[in-house]
Amino acid sequence: MERIILVSNRLPVTVEKRKGDLQYHHSAGGLATGLDSVYNKGNTLWIGWPGINHENVSSEEKMQIQEKLAQRNCAPVFLSRENIDKYYNGFSNKTIWPLFHYFPQYANFDADYWNSYVNVNHKFAAIIMQNIKAGDTVWIHDYQLMLLPALLREKIADITIGFFLHIPFPSFEIFRLLPWRKQILEGLLGADLIGFHTFEYIRHFLNSSRRILGCEVSFTQITYQNRLIMADVFPMGIDYERFHNATSHPDVRKEEISIREKTGNTSLILSIDRLDYTKGVVQRLEAYDLLLTKYPQLKEKVTLILVEVPSRASVDSYRKLKRQIDELIGRINGKYGVIGWAPVLNMYRSIPFSTLVALYYACDIALVTPLRDGMNLVAKEFVASKNNRPGVLILSEMAGAAREMGEALIVNPNNLDEMAEAIQTALQMSPEEQMSRLKVMQNRLIRYDVKRWASDFLMKLKQAGNQRIQIQAEKLSLSQRNELIAKVAKSRRTLLLLDYDGTIVPIMDHPDKAIPDSEITSILQRLQDVKNYTVAIVSGRDKDFMEKYFGDTNLTLCAEHGVWIKQPQENWHTVNFIQNTWKNNLKPILELYADRTPGAVLEEKNYSLAFHFRNADPELASIRVRELTESLIHQVSNLNLCVMEGKKVIEIKNAGINKGNFAMKQIEKGDYDLVIAIGDDVTDEDLFASLPENAFSIKVGIGSSKAKYFLDSVYQVRELLKQLSVLHTSDQLVERTG
Ligand code: UDP
Ligand code: G6P
Repeated sequence: MERIILVSNRLPVTVEKRKGDLQYHHSAGGLATGLDSVYNKGNTLWIGWPGINHENVSSEEKMQIQEKLAQRNCAPVFLSRENIDKYYNGFSNKTIWPLFHYFPQYANFDADYWNSYVNVNHKFAAIIMQNIKAGDTVWIHDYQLMLLPALLREKIADITIGFFLHIPFPSFEIFRLLPWRKQILEGLLGADLIGFHTFEYIRHFLNSSRRILGCEVSFTQITYQNRLIMADVFPMGIDYERFHNATSHPDVRKEEISIREKTGNTSLILSIDRLDYTKGVVQRLEAYDLLLTKYPQLKEKVTLILVEVPSRASVDSYRKLKRQIDELIGRINGKYGVIGWAPVLNMYRSIPFSTLVALYYACDIALVTPLRDGMNLVAKEFVASKNNRPGVLILSEMAGAAREMGEALIVNPNNLDEMAEAIQTALQMSPEEQMSRLKVMQNRLIRYDVKRWASDFLMKLKQAGNQRIQIQAEKLSLSQRNELIAKVAKSRRTLLLLDYDGTIVPIMDHPDKAIPDSEITSILQRLQDVKNYTVAIVSGRDKDFMEKYFGDTNLTLCAEHGVWIKQPQENWHTVNFIQNTWKNNLKPILELYADRTPGAVLEEKNYSLAFHFRNADPELASIRVRELTESLIHQVSNLNLCVMEGKKVIEIKNAGINKGNFAMKQIEKGDYDLVIAIGDDVTDEDLFASLPENAFSIKVGIGSSKAKYFLDSVYQVRELLKQLSVLHTSDQLVERTG
């Protein structure tokens, strides 16, 4: 079985030094607890930070930690005090965490923090490289390591890399605030598969990738730098059996009875979180306060058990929150408490598993009301622990878990009255209704538990990896290139059909900037000097552009996808009798659309109209293209026109004119024994489709195509053309033409 290398900032084991002794305990938080049960099962190595700073341990102690962790299939990444300050507390928890949870007011954009984040991601990459073996799959987790996928990809191009984000991916409007937004996206896109808890997060991520990096996005697939990256939803589950079955354990039962005894005959409301401002504890306490004011009869009848697990205590906003919560608890207990009854029972510590399950089992209501939460496993664990026991889950609509737990009482965590009313509803809900709601949620949790979540992700990751291998295999290999070169060397007459934009000249943000540079000019010059070749530039550009840059060459030119043709030493001519009077009717419509779509431009060619939207808002552009196509549909069929979609452009032109028809006529005319066509766009597909069986068709970039081979970039096309241009040396020429 192939090995999975799990990588996360925090290992499932945290090491602490107390009174000179090293102590090992379970790490808190959804990532560690969730993945723990996955990695315990299989052939895995987990790489991460053991939670202790490296200045605090001697080299012997480090060895000791390393050995101890190795027994649990873990390998440590030791971080310095400075790393912890700037990468962990800093960029991870004072920049990304608040921003991604919609708390931009807490986000700190400090370049020092960023540099440390970059360094530590490099450090993780180095440790992975020390441990990785051929055939390993790497699965990276969470927001602390978003640069790692691309860093690893740089080191090993053909490795399968998965990434899972355990927190929300925010909307573009929030994400764009980040000064290093581009680098973060580029980092993530080094992966083959990127997983999120909900579809909303994917939508935001795709939107940002499209707007910030200009990626092509089709459904949930992203094309970036000639790689396909898949994004998908995998709502993380829990180890259902572990929680459900633990409730029968004698220790848990004993603890449950003791909880009940200590809280008298009151209804128990449970609140458990890491102490974090995203969890909405302040609002939760205020709602509880409101409940006791609105329903005074509940005094001495309810108890709120508030467990706060210490977290990130060196970060200011967390420390302040602790004080604020303590004050609130004091206020509520002071306001309503009587001897023998405190409305809030508070614990500020990490609790063992048996106590956790006993609390889940004992409590009547779980109040899980984060202001934002990627998923929230506490909600799921509470439901799983209700083994033949009623209970009501009150869940915030801002938690990813709300997407799957519609049978909970769903609340807006900012609406105190709604939360207070939900508690009151829960207190009055019949046990039958509670059980039936729980059952539906439990069945869902059983079906999609954490093992299924992990196996689903890994299965999809395997597919994504295979897809990469397949794309790689389609690329023009060295032996295929040599075969082509041998054929060209033997050929009497070769026709070279070259698209312009994106094939021999890189695509720019504005078409006016994409003009021939000295390198391509000299390559074309050398190619046309070889008598065995006919070189044709087959473009969608208009005749004036082609004339301006290639008019005084000996190249065959085809403009406007075949409307205009210029053979060497001849003048431009049009192929058929074609109309352009229709432009007067359609131009005002297209102009209106261009005016209403900021960034879009209308290009008028002799025989066509092109609506370019490369610089327009991608979502607006796609709506406009749909509207435009629909509004033109009748005119188009009546006037024998067609609407052609290219890369960020739609063009209206005469039907029957395309690059393929040009190519066929050109092939008929010459006595060619070899045809090579290279193109990158949708319009080049007509060209590829028209070629004889033995032709060499090459697409630049990836994606489905009728071309037989693929090259990565304009740069690679130029390299190939350079090779072809020097192939027919004067000796060979004499031999073959003589
Ligand atoms: N948890 C813990 N220690 C505790 C109490 C709870 O590790 O003392 C666990 C809890 O069982 C749950 C996780 O912490 O699995 C919290 O995950 P959640 O997704 O709710 O929130 P996160 O902490 O990841 O933001
Ligand atoms: C959340 C994050 C995890 C993190 C955990 C605990 O679950 O998604 O990446 O490990 O909180 O936080 P900590 O900062 O203690 O690792």
